[in-house]
Amino acid sequence: MPKTDPVLADLVTGQPQLAVTTDPGDLEHYGRDWTRRWRPAPLAVALPTDVAQVQAIARWAFERRIALVPSGGRTGLSGGAVAAHGEVVVSFERMNRVLGFDAADRTLTVQPGLPLERLQQAAAEHGLLYPVDFAARGSCTIGGNIATNAGGIRVIRYGNTREWIAGLKVVTGTGELLDLNRGLIKNSSGYDLRHLMIGSEGTLGLVVEARVRLTEPPPASSVMLFALPAMDALMRVFDACRRQLTLSAFEFFNDRALHHVVAHGAQAPFAQGAPFYVIVEFDAADEAEQALALNVFEQCLDNGWVVDGVMSQSAAQAAALWRLREGITESLAPYRPYKNDISVQIGAIPAFMHGMQAIFAREYPDFDVVWFGHIGDGNLHINVLKPAALADEAFIAQCEHVTRLLSDALAACGGSISAEHGIGLVKKHYLAGTRSAAEIAIMRGIKRVLDPAGLLNPGKLFDEP
Ligand code: MLT
Ligand code: ZN
Repeated sequence: MPKTDPVLADLVTGQPQLAVTTDPGDLEHYGRDWTRRWRPAPLAVALPTDVAQVQAIARWAFERRIALVPSGGRTGLSGGAVAAHGEVVVSFERMNRVLGFDAADRTLTVQPGLPLERLQQAAAEHGLLYPVDFAARGSCTIGGNIATNAGGIRVIRYGNTREWIAGLKVVTGTGELLDLNRGLIKNSSGYDLRHLMIGSEGTLGLVVEARVRLTEPPPASSVMLFALPAMDALMRVFDACRRQLTLSAFEFFNDRALHHVVAHGAQAPFAQGAPFYVIVEFDAADEAEQALALNVFEQCLDNGWVVDGVMSQSAAQAAALWRLREGITESLAPYRPYKNDISVQIGAIPAFMHGMQAIFAREYPDFDVVWFGHIGDGNLHINVLKPAALADEAFIAQCEHVTRLLSDALAACGGSISAEHGIGLVKKHYLAGTRSAAEIAIMRGIKRVLDPAGLLNPGKLFDEP
């Protein structure tokens, strides 16, 4: 089929080893991410196996003025990997290997299509840790993680993907190969183009290789789950935990999240419900650290910030507690949630949450609003579930109206409309609430240098001028 398509013919004949498919099932599969909002309609899907093939695709696309959409595990939540306008999807599915381990520098060199979980396993095989982690670990890929500067559940301890990328090889919109930073720890030689690529959502270049930094695994940890009587208790509990324990995660969710995750098969943790819950992961290598954690729990209980709690006594119990948090996304998926992924500074969270609660109560009196996220990083995921009777368009229009209010509130307090999912298609109309006009103009200018024909993931992040 691709051979008979006149536009694709010279790509296919020029690269006889390159797999190119136009099978309708493949176009559907590779043309979308987890948003399910846009109808996939790519021209074709190319599945390169090496850097030279990616360069050939980029050069062909530049000559033919064909748009390219890079594609990893397509677990994104912002439409960043959607191909709905005759683009060629560049899937990195076949570039999924670990290329090497450097013991002296403690780095792994990997291809972009390597799933996060396999990267974590490869690090563990060398007695080391790749610490960026989140529920989609089995399906998402390191290339996609780099594209969105993915965060996840242990940012509070280890930071975002950005902190762990020691080098990148990237193919630009003209097919040029850039070898950025080459694993150096110190490199004070001008603009760090590596960091420009991280979080650029595939709009500046195609990541074809990454050198990722590894670290020592942490000491043994335990997990506590607390039930909280009110929103105001969240940051008080956070402060108490942060001051006294060595945290690797501090996450929260509300009663609606727990309702859905339990309805989806998880075990209810407490006999009585509460409006909010936090999950706290902390170093607990010995009995003293466990006792300290119990002490923190008792302090929170005495102050009335916590009404119930449980501490894991085994890895299996810790996993069961984590399931209550990590299972939320999957449990909500059947309701086609509208996802907000916002961040504010830690100090701004209490006032911001109250403001949001008032907006949601006023604008969505009948909607199921699910709060969860990485509150220890100032990152809230507020998911609004679509009522079965409401049509998709009407639901999205109502949600967009609230997102505008949210965006204005974020602009007022210096927050961000996307903490970790990316802007993609979903949030591009709100970018100007988070980034100034001058910043966006500079971003466009940078894109023009690296992608002069505007072919790399066009329409994502912002529309072409
Ligand atoms: C999470 O924190 O669970 C992820 O960002 C996914 C989501 O927001 O649904
Ligand atoms: Zn998240």
